[in-house]
Amino acid sequence: MQLPQQHPSHATSAPAGGQEPFHTIIEPFRIKSVEPIRMTTRAEREARLTEAGHNLFSLRSQDVLIDLLTDSGTGAMSAEQWACLQRGDESYAGSPSFYRFEAAVRELFPFKHVIPTHQGRAAEKILFSVVGGKGKVIPNNTHFDTTRANVEFTGAEAVDCVIPEGKQPALIHPFKGNMDLGRLDALIREVGPARIPMVFVTLTNNSGGGQPVSLENLKGVRAICDRHQLPLFLDGCRFAENAWFIRTREPGQGERDVKQIVREIGALADGMTMSAKKDGLANIGGWLGLNDPELAQQCRNMLILTEGFPTYGGLAGRDLEAIAQGLTEVVDHDYLRYRIRSTAYLGEALQAEGIPLVLPIGGHAVYLDARGLLPHVPPLQYPGQVLAMELYREGGVRGCEIGTVMFGRRPDGTEAPGPMDLVRLAIPRRTYTQSHIDYVIEVVCRVAKRAAALKGLKISWEPKALRHFSARFEPVA
Ligand SMILES: Cc1ncc(COP(=O)(O)O)c(C=O)c1O
Repeated sequence: MQLPQQHPSHATSAPAGGQEPFHTIIEPFRIKSVEPIRMTTRAEREARLTEAGHNLFSLRSQDVLIDLLTDSGTGAMSAEQWACLQRGDESYAGSPSFYRFEAAVRELFPFKHVIPTHQGRAAEKILFSVVGGKGKVIPNNTHFDTTRANVEFTGAEAVDCVIPEGKQPALIHPFKGNMDLGRLDALIREVGPARIPMVFVTLTNNSGGGQPVSLENLKGVRAICDRHQLPLFLDGCRFAENAWFIRTREPGQGERDVKQIVREIGALADGMTMSAKKDGLANIGGWLGLNDPELAQQCRNMLILTEGFPTYGGLAGRDLEAIAQGLTEVVDHDYLRYRIRSTAYLGEALQAEGIPLVLPIGGHAVYLDARGLLPHVPPLQYPGQVLAMELYREGGVRGCEIGTVMFGRRPDGTEAPGPMDLVRLAIPRRTYTQSHIDYVIEVVCRVAKRAAALKGLKISWEPKALRHFSARFEPVA
């Protein structure tokens, strides 16, 4: 991957022997097994869009050429992970695969209780059904859609307290995922700590552009939690990417091992929810980490109802093995350098073409600012959805709307514009090569050239919750 505008933080470290670093950061792996992808014609894509009600979640993935819908569970496993699958022990209770999984999690996040779940939202569902309920309030920098939905499903309120810079797409700030500490403190005083079961911080801030949270900010959140005697929980989905940003952007962190940074982050918290489909480098899985034994017991009781016995929690033993191995690979510096650099490669190329983006480029995805690119499409005609559809129509590229479709429907049934209208191009881990990404750049640029001609959409059907997954759309007249 060439580095046309290399940020100092992305420079390779000098190899041993004092030589100059290489300009090109390579994928730190070679390909052992391949999966064909299929080009479709424009007419085919048009037909598939109509059948899908203009909702990209309803497409068959075989009709997608480059699938950037999500980085969740879509990555490639390493040869070592595939080998670990063979070791998976499928005992119902007390499997050695569970103990390997537990040890790997605790190597990074030293929580007393580690409860496996089949994915992140299962951990959320269990936790919030225990601590949530009417009258309760959960602060977060920004709740991810499933987190918000699981909080609200219990009747509790989900409040986002990200710093104001985090809501301005083009504004450069190294840690746009940071919590607004003043706002958090004011919220706790206003609501009263008794109504707040815990404070959450999402690493990195997915809904806000994949933007990281600094260690300093986390310590600030911890101090506020201590003052009000509240537990601090992490939504740790992209903890390793966040730690890499801390290493490369936060003063005084540049010499540290990422694993050390992760352990420090973990030690600041009282618990976490996790989707191992992201920085677990696995295709399925998650966990709930906790220190409070009573809360852990209540969560285990729920786990048995909905997921399974506490030593497998909705996963096969082989899945637990894949996660355990993935957790050792994800903190590797060569991997993280390549990972963050390859996302920036896509973003910087689009930025050079004048495409409005969330800046700086996030860890796992590039977020196109659809409201900026399509100013003539009002937010309630879903500019993000329009742009995402057009990328598929143009070149078979599937992205994901993160905007008014995802966040516009309020619990009281009213509709309002989301904070931003974005299209997320999420990069699956270790999956696509540079030429795939060059193709994506070409597709986005072609669509951007005719942006002024694109028309809005209206919703013809939507479900009661999480409407972006299944709503159907029609072009506005
Ligand atoms: C920040 C964040 N939290 C929670 C989740 C939910 O995880 P899962 O998809 O495994 O249920 C996601 C998934 O994308 C996420 O990005």
